[in-house]
Amino acid sequence: MSLMDRISDLPDTLLLRVLSLLPSAKDVVATMVLSKRWEFLWLSVPRLVFDDQDIVEFGKFSRFVDRYLIVNDAPEIETLHFKLSRRYAAQDIIVWMRAANNFTVDEMIIEIDSSSCASPVILPKFLYTECTMLVTLKLNSVILADFSSPMFFPSLKTLSLLSVRYPDEEFASSLLSYCHVLESLEVEKCRDDNVTLFTVRVPSLKRLVLHTSENRDRDDSDGFVINAPCLEYFNIIDHKGGFCVIENDMPNVVEAYVDVTHSHPRMILGSITSVKRLYLCLSTSKDLYPDDTLVHRLVHLTLCTCDTEWLNLLVSMLRDSPSLRALKLEQYHGLPAHHLRAYWNEPSSVPVCLLSSLETLEWVNYEGTEEEKEVVGFMFRNGSCLKKVTISSKSNDCNKKLEMIKELTWSIRCSPTCQLAFD
Ligand SMILES: *[C@@H]1O[C@H](CO)[C@@H](O)[C@H](O)[C@H]1NC(C)=O
Ligand SMILES: *[C@@H]1O[C@H](CO)[C@@H](O)[C@H](O)[C@H]1NC(C)=O
Ligand SMILES: *[C@@H]1O[C@H](CO)[C@@H](O)[C@H](O)[C@H]1NC(C)=O
Repeated sequence: MSLMDRISDLPDTLLLRVLSLLPSAKDVVATMVLSKRWEFLWLSVPRLVFDDQDIVEFGKFSRFVDRYLIVNDAPEIETLHFKLSRRYAAQDIIVWMRAANNFTVDEMIIEIDSSSCASPVILPKFLYTECTMLVTLKLNSVILADFSSPMFFPSLKTLSLLSVRYPDEEFASSLLSYCHVLESLEVEKCRDDNVTLFTVRVPSLKRLVLHTSENRDRDDSDGFVINAPCLEYFNIIDHKGGFCVIENDMPNVVEAYVDVTHSHPRMILGSITSVKRLYLCLSTSKDLYPDDTLVHRLVHLTLCTCDTEWLNLLVSMLRDSPSLRALKLEQYHGLPAHHLRAYWNEPSSVPVCLLSSLETLEWVNYEGTEEEKEVVGFMFRNGSCLKKVTISSKSNDCNKKLEMIKELTWSIRCSPTCQLAFD
């Protein structure tokens, strides 16, 4: 018996599962030629992905979706997913949504990316008002227009607004206020988006990613306002010098990625003191968080070493993270052109985490400068629980590397149980 015959002996439910794993509806349809057995199977596949990159010719894609939705025979569709990267007549999309309303759809995902269109897509009105099955909406380079009718997103859990342009600031925040079950939000502010202060007040939110596009002008009045008491994951990248106001504590945040050039990052760090895993790149080490705040649960810390202040930041973070187990130092952004040297002031007392919890130190892009050697030396001398130190250098110069290894081996002698790895 051939492999094809053996596959065709499998029960329909299993074959439909297999078909559901294919990347898009076009691939699913292609299986109808495999054999008699497959001829009609594709009509009942419960997961439909329509991706307009699959069908290059404009117009053909619309007809393909139209027909597919008419002949579709699956009583219940688990996922109906549109990936649209061209400009469609609103009418096209309306027809698809109306057709979709004829089935039971558990999850509808719409992705519209008009970043490569000559003119941006304007989101059709009924997406705000009639898509009750919409669970995921991802928009890139789209214009949202104000139709002054109430919006309706009863099932929306994931929303992504990248380089989206809004009629005005109120519109952006009121859009979010209609998303009562939203769990994940991603925003990228871009140039000319009509929003200076982006306000996120979403009580159900668990995951929040806020970025400011590099194409935006530097503006100190630019900012984010956040009220998301249930947040668990927080990611903010903003190199445009604005600010971030957090209206309430976020006691459930366990993971955070904070990379900002704000002059007062105090409020951010002060609101996420429950964090366990933290990435930090700040241009300042002053005014980090309210006095006497400990980052009690912090276990994994990655600190970017691109900034002149990073050594002070390191000292503060070591002092205030009594449970830290793993520290990673990484020069992530590359050094600015006129880099000032950072200075290391050995702390007057050994931080608690060095005495009781810090087990691993990883240093990426170690250069072997005087300051770096002093930091490593301090860790070896005073890190009583240090088990493993991994150092990687970006240098290709063998002699320089050999020199670094010699120096490191010399410093590690005072920490006999610690293992050193170098590459
Ligand atoms: C929905 O189903 C009805 C009855 O089967 C059919 O007449 C109608 O054309 C369908 N609507 C769409 C938009 O496909
Ligand atoms: C942004 O605001 C200006 C001025 O109010 C307005 O003319 C423009 O249409 C707005 N942009 C969008 C995308 O609505
Ligand atoms: C760190 O350890 C060294 C050697 O044991 C010791 O001389 C030094 O005082 C310690 N540093 C602090 C801040 O206690």
